[in-house]
Amino acid sequence: MRERLRVMEKTKHIFVAGAGLMGSGIAQVAATAGFRVTLYDVVQSSLEKARASISASLEKLYGKDRITIPPQEIMVNLQFTRKLEDAGACDLVIEAVPEVKKLKGELFQKLDTICGETVLFASNTSAIPISVLADYCGRAELFCGVHFFSPVPLMPLVEIIRGEKTSDPTIDAFRQIVMAMGKETITVAQDVPGFIVNRVFFAAALEAARLVEKEVSHAADVDKAMQLGCGWKMGPLATCDLAGLDVIVHAADAIYEESGDSVFKVPASMRKLIEEGHLGRKSGRGFYRYS
Ligand SMILES: NC(=O)c1ccc[n+]([C@@H]2O[C@H](COP(=O)([O-])OP(=O)(O)OC[C@H]3O[C@@H](n4cnc5c(N)ncnc54)[C@H](O)[C@@H]3O)[C@@H](O)[C@H]2O)c1
Repeated sequence: MRERLRVMEKTKHIFVAGAGLMGSGIAQVAATAGFRVTLYDVVQSSLEKARASISASLEKLYGKDRITIPPQEIMVNLQFTRKLEDAGACDLVIEAVPEVKKLKGELFQKLDTICGETVLFASNTSAIPISVLADYCGRAELFCGVHFFSPVPLMPLVEIIRGEKTSDPTIDAFRQIVMAMGKETITVAQDVPGFIVNRVFFAAALEAARLVEKEVSHAADVDKAMQLGCGWKMGPLATCDLAGLDVIVHAADAIYEESGDSVFKVPASMRKLIEEGHLGRKSGRGFYRYS
């Protein structure tokens, strides 16, 4: 156990797989915390986009005194690669490739053969069971979920999810690493679909949509109710519009598929909005209209 705890102390070099929205954000906060980071993607343009967006985000944060280290010093900590073999030099892996079980599983299978046997693995999956992904490689004890939120550099929370076989030292090591990245953590002790944030949020947001569908109230009043009655900063329907209705429905469907719980069944009116191209703020209309 003591040996495993030393993993945290030894972690200097993090391999982040997938350089999209989440992977580039995770790479950014890890590099800002002083870790060496290798950001891997199969698509060259994703890596180029990640480099540009990380650099722009760091400049912005530095300009606002949200970080104190000059961006060029942080960028030195980052390497960008299309070679999976580069994972062999890393102490820890965080995976953020698209939400497809087989894709993630096969990637972990390959990483398992490339990385040293004490290297910790984590997935940033939103809805695929951690234990299912852990089963793709031979290190279920060293495997857990680390669920960051978007935009990663700004959102303070990370859910640390225990799989069926995840060991305590693995959870501890990830908690410490993520806290070193300036994040707050909560531990999710059981591998339930949607973990905590998405589960609670989707239950509320889908019910809010159902109330509007049944004409119990208008979207603005349902949101106002949650803001003034429950102290939410933003109403659930406005939050859906901000995240994108397509993104919300995709994630809710995944939780429903895994859990079978009707609380997570997407109401028909929400699907209809998507079919009509009303995806929320990004398309100019969702539950609300935007100019
Ligand atoms: N977007 C969110 O708000 C959010 C929040 C929390 C968790 N997540 C989860 O994070 C993960 C990534 O989501 P995202 O929004 O960053 O996706 P994204 O589509 O922005 O990025 C995925 C990246 O993975 C790359 N990729 C595809 N196949 C690959 C492979 N085999 N090896 C390496 N790279 C590969 C793609 O080229 C792309 O750059 C998903 O599991 C998602 O559910 C997303």
